[in-house]
Parts: sequence; C-alpha cells; structure tokens
Amino acid sequence: MSTDYSNFTVKRIGCIGAGYVGGPTMSMIAKYCPHIDVYIFDLNQTRINAWNSDNLPIYEPGLDEIVQERRGKNLFFTTDYTEAVIKSDVVFLSVNTPTKHYGLGKGRQADLKFIELCARQIRDSVKTGHKIIVEKSTVPIKTAMAVSRILKTSSDSQATFDILSNPEFLAEGTAVKDLENPDRVLIGGENPAAIKILADVYANWVKREQIIQTNLWSSELSKLVANCFLAQRISSINAVSAICEATGANVNEVAHAVGMDKRIGSRFLQASVGFGGSCFQKDILNLTYLAEHYHLKEVADYFYGVISMNDWQKQRFAQKVVHKLFNTVSSKKLSVLGFAFKKDTGDTRESSSIFICSKLVEERAYLNIYDPKVSELQIMDDIMRVMNDAYDGDFSAHLDTTPESEMVRRCVKVIKDPYECVKDTHAVLIMTEWDEFKTYDWKKMYDSMKKPAFLFDGRNILDHSKLEEIGFDVYSIGVAEKNPAQW
Ligand SMILES: NC(=O)c1ccc[n+]([C@@H]2O[C@H](COP(=O)([O-])OP(=O)(O)OC[C@H]3O[C@@H](n4cnc5c(N)ncnc54)[C@H](O)[C@@H]3O)[C@@H](O)[C@H]2O)c1
Repeated sequence: MSTDYSNFTVKRIGCIGAGYVGGPTMSMIAKYCPHIDVYIFDLNQTRINAWNSDNLPIYEPGLDEIVQERRGKNLFFTTDYTEAVIKSDVVFLSVNTPTKHYGLGKGRQADLKFIELCARQIRDSVKTGHKIIVEKSTVPIKTAMAVSRILKTSSDSQATFDILSNPEFLAEGTAVKDLENPDRVLIGGENPAAIKILADVYANWVKREQIIQTNLWSSELSKLVANCFLAQRISSINAVSAICEATGANVNEVAHAVGMDKRIGSRFLQASVGFGGSCFQKDILNLTYLAEHYHLKEVADYFYGVISMNDWQKQRFAQKVVHKLFNTVSSKKLSVLGFAFKKDTGDTRESSSIFICSKLVEERAYLNIYDPKVSELQIMDDIMRVMNDAYDGDFSAHLDTTPESEMVRRCVKVIKDPYECVKDTHAVLIMTEWDEFKTYDWKKMYDSMKKPAFLFDGRNILDHSKLEEIGFDVYSIGVAEKNPAQW
C-alpha cells in the first residue's frame, strides 16, 4: 500500500556523502530552499572539517560563496548521523560507487558496498515514521530494488520508505552552473506522490517542464547511458584526430565543420589527450558489465571500444613525446602543465596526466609538474599508485618504500610557479585546459628552456603559429606534423 503524503512536509533533508556531488547539490538546495534545513553527513571527519572551514575540500567556481551564505543557517556539514539522517524527511545517498577492484566483476562491476552499507545503517537506526530515500549516486540498474529489500527486512521497525532514483548530471568544474540551471532533473520512482515531494523541492528553482519522471530502472539506466554517450563523443573525435595526423587534415577544422550540423552539435568535440574523471570510465565499465550479464556481448563490446580508444590516445601521446625528443627522454627534464582531469577542478581521479606522467617516469624522464589547484601530496600519491598498480585505499605504508615509489620521488618535482616549472626543461606538455596557460608569457618560457624547445599541446588550447614564431617545436593533437621525417 503506498504511503499517504497529504500530511508530509519536507522540513529537513539529509545527505550521506559529502563529496563532489553531495556537497554542491545539497548547497544548492539550501540556497534555494531557505525553509528546509539541509544536513550533510560523512564518515570522513577531515572532509567534514574542511567543509566547515574557509578551505573547502573541493574547488568549484561559485561554490565558496553559496556555502558561506548558507552554512550555519540552513546548511550543516556533520558527522552526527542522528541529526543528518534519523531526523530527516528525505535522505539522499551520495556515496562513492567505484569500480570493483577485487573478486567477481573485478575491473568492471560497480562496487556497491557503500550504498548497501547506507541502506543497512538506515534500516538499523530508523524505527518509526516515513522517509524518502533518494539514490543520488550513479548505480547499476536494479540497485533500488536491493536498497528497498534491505530497508524492508527489519523485524522491530514501524518505519516505512519510498525509494527514488535521482541521478546527478553535473559536470565538475561547472557544478554550480549546472545545478543552478540544469538541462533536466530526472526522478525515477514507483510512487507518484513521493516523486511529487522531491519534484516540489527542485521546483523552488528549476522549471517544472525540466523535471522529468520515469520508472526507477529508466532513471538508473539514463545516467549510465548519458555518460557513455558523452565519453563516446570524445573517443570519436580522438579517433578522428589520429586520422587527421596521418592525412594532413586538421581535427579542429573537422570538428568545427561537423559540429555545425545541428543534429550533431558542437559541444564535446574537442580532441585531447583523452578523457578522465571519476565517472566516464567507471560508468562505461558498469554498462558493459550489465550488458554482459544480460548476454548482450555485442553491446558490451561496442561501448567498451570507447575506453580502448581513450587508452590508446593516452598511450599515443606519451609515445609521441618520446619519439619527438629523439627517441629518448631518459635523463631529460620535461615540464607538465596541468594535472587535474579538466580545468576548474582540483579533482585528479583518472586524469590522463597520471597515466602519461607514469609512462614518462618509466622512460626515466625527470618531470616538473605544475597545476594551479592540485596539491603536491595528491600528485605524488596519484603517480605512485599507478606505478605500484595500487587502487583507492590500497596505498599502505609498505608501498611507500617500493622501488617504483623511490623512482617517483627521485624523478618528479611539483613546482608552484609555472615559470620555474618550465625553466631548463626540454619540453612543455599541456595536460589540462586551464585558461591561465593561454595568458603566459611564452617567449619568456621559451628563453628559459633548453633548445630545441618542444611543446606538446595535449588540449589544443594555445596559439600554435605564435609559439612556432617564438621558436618552439610544436606538436598538437590531430594536426599533421610539418616535417614528420625530421628531428
Ligand atoms: N563527481 C562527479 O562529477 C559526479 C557526477 C555525477 C554523479 N556522480 C556520482 O555520484 C556519486 C558520488 O560521487 P562523488 O564524486 O561525490 O564521490 P566522492 O568520493 O567525492 O564522495 C563520496 C563521499 O561518500 C562518503 N561515504 C562513503 N560511504 C559512506 C557512508 N557509509 N557514510 C557516510 N559517508 C560515506 C565518502 O567518505 C566520501 O566523502 C558516485 O556514484 C558518482 O558516480 C559523480
């Protein structure tokens, strides 16, 4: 029997998981719903402390202002489970759902242990009343069914629940803009009354026609499909970039011409060193795993090609650097500008930079790395993890002393000033499309470098003819080399 919502008002919203999604989404709700108290809970005390400080744990343009405006009024970051979850009318699950790195489905399946833990904690602690549980995390289809089954298995509870799926489509770096003005808000569920309650919350700032409703499974699947399609566009233009380099076509011109077709559109057609971020690869793997589970091997193979192309693009870039530097980078100093997976974020998860830096360290290069938002600790940790073949949470003390970690410490320097970073190096590698890179005095950089000075633009953001006039040997993605046979 479905719950009667006639007397149900949302006075308090809780969220489990104060990460890249939980923090910004809840801050936006607090901003536009001053009549609702919003509590964000996390097990990680350091992260909660950072949310309560002047130095937020994530960088997103515009986020600081919103947090400062609402924090302590109707926005609270806490490790107090009762305040955030037990007392809330609506509870969002916004915990991480990484790719499993052990056992069955290793390297493919989503690891749902954090989601399951949330469901079990709610079941064991909420004994009365009614709550709407909202899946905000990206999950495989039918996860809502597992959450619902767990919630129903308490023998000593009067509590009732409705489960909704409300996947998040924000992009890091533009999270505030995306949340403020979303293309759509998607709510999947079985009980229209529960869907209406959540839709009413969003309707405080999102137009009703942009709040769409589906069944639970369509909602869960739509998020995976959206990420597959986005990643697929990047891999497609990157595949084209290789053809351009081989034939003399220019990928920027091709992308422009193709993107002017309204059926195709111009966005996400920027050739690059490959996509990164915590979601694309994970969600494609997740979808391919699901397809295989349903004996749809051809579907799995089709989408898996998107990842293979991305891996190849990163590999190709690293190889090109070695090849152009007279087939060896051993003992050469290279400067890497950009380590975040995209501009306007400090997030490095699955960043192409990590893979390329580790390949160049394997080739015995010395790297100077600069990123405006990523800490030295994060950069060193990321490269060491990859070189030690270690996964999230696996970086234990003994890995700190492996030969690979020693090598990273010997070969990698993180430098806080871009001009210092580039000085005395043989080549500059642009790895993230930070706007500030376009404003540098490239003549000054060139003068401070070893000659010949190479520049590999992995994002095609700089003015290459100007750089060539200065004297750089420039290599960019998807543009044929002027003198391919010459070193
Ligand atoms: N990052 C993005 O751009 C993005 C965009 C859309 C969707 N998503 C999806 O949103 C989800 C969250 O992603 P994220 O990037 O915010 O992850 P994140 O790793 O930044 O944050 C997750 C947080 O959950 C906390 N957590 C885990 N288990 C917990 C528990 N039982 N109780 C309390 N806290 C717990 C962790 O400590 C962490 O702080 C994922 O499913 C992801 O795929 C992410």
